[in-house]
Amino acid sequence: MRIRLALGTILALSFTVAALPLHSARAADAAAGKRLFHQRCSICHSDEKGENKIGPSLFGVVGRKAGTEAGYHYSAANEKSGLTWDEATLDRYLQRPSKAVPGTKMSFAGMPNASQRADVIAFLATLH
Ligand code: HEC
Repeated sequence: MRIRLALGTILALSFTVAALPLHSARAADAAAGKRLFHQRCSICHSDEKGENKIGPSLFGVVGRKAGTEAGYHYSAANEKSGLTWDEATLDRYLQRPSKAVPGTKMSFAGMPNASQRADVIAFLATLH
């Protein structure tokens, strides 16, 4: 009897644990995103307002229409993409820029890791 109960408890517990990841997808981490930004993006992009480098400043990029940072000379592909940078469009672009905006001059192969992309996007959203 004791053993039965214990087994039942163990079974119930393991179901609970197995079900958890379905409910709690890992939250995006802006601090990790900032580190990734400095490793992967800041060679070409500044997070300071109005500071264009090889790429345009990414200050305020979330919510911005593609190709509209003042004083930066974009590719026609980017300017005519008709995109507005939000979580979904940034996620697609950062996964593989050349696929999301064919002809973009951002020579960055992409970030295959979805949770890294989410972290970088969470960091970009803090730049306002
Ligand atoms: C090798 C240089 C380089 C790297 C590395 C790079 N980018 Fe870019 N990025 C560019 C260039 C150049 C453009 C302009 C693209 C165009 O006009 O076609 C651009 C454009 C963008 C845009 C569009 C901005 C707008 O105003 O329309 C976003 C968003 C962006 N990059 C995000 C990132 C992020 C985030 C990373 C790091 C994960 C990154 N980039 C890494 C060079 C780079």
